[in-house]
Amino acid sequence: MDPGTAPRELRTARLLLRGWRADDAAAFAALNADPEVMRHIATGPLDRRASEDLRARLQHEWERAGHGLWALERRDDGALLGFCGLAVPGFARGLAAGTVEVGWRLRRDAWGHGYATEASRAALRVAWADLGRDHVVSLVHPDNARSLAVCERLGMRVVGRTTHVRTGWPLLVLRADRPRPEAPPRRAAAGDPP
Ligand SMILES: CC(C)(COP(=O)(O)OP(=O)(O)OC[C@H]1O[C@@H](n2cnc3c(N)ncnc32)[C@H](O)[C@@H]1OP(=O)(O)O)[C@@H](O)C(=O)NCCC(=O)NCCS
Repeated sequence: MDPGTAPRELRTARLLLRGWRADDAAAFAALNADPEVMRHIATGPLDRRASEDLRARLQHEWERAGHGLWALERRDDGALLGFCGLAVPGFARGLAAGTVEVGWRLRRDAWGHGYATEASRAALRVAWADLGRDHVVSLVHPDNARSLAVCERLGMRVVGRTTHVRTGWPLLVLRADRPRPEAPPRRAAAGDPP
């Protein structure tokens, strides 16, 4: 099956998943500079320039792959909370070509509200319905308890281990599988009780 493309914009109950804009720069830089947010990210905290490079790469990835990490905006107040979406994980060793990762990063004051789970549920629906994927992975440092909890809420299970290509950090490989279609109700057969 040809890989499809993801919608550029999605809405959930509380969130808008949208394309990146130039006026995201300051809020995105603040997110990426926070040592607590970046504790389990191999790059560590990013300065403003590295944050802008990352934003450019995220935009480019959409053009190249037809999917990527959406900017995550809270619908209530338009605040940029971080990102979530479907990326190509070039940073992990030994993954099959074409593997898609569901990933997330939120500013600290947006933790504890269920936003990452809400956004990634929507991202997974896109992976099944628009990209025609049978499975999606997530690569998580074993100490990243909050990220592992998101995976658990999404019903992902650990299927292996790998390492980060540059730092050699350990990474758990978790996997979500496309839900099976519901079986149609069984038709009554001769001999069934009335
Ligand atoms: C990983 C990360 C996105 C998880 O964020 P999170 O807010 O813990 O995850 P969720 O969005 O699923 O929110 C779940 C929490 O919200 C609570 N919650 C509150 N209101 C809720 C609602 N309406 N619906 C669902 N959950 C809700 C849940 O009870 C849960 O709380 P708990 O953590 O105290 O048990 C965040 O910690 C982060 O950005 N970390 C840094 C970046 C990072 O490590 N990225 C991943 C690299 S692999």
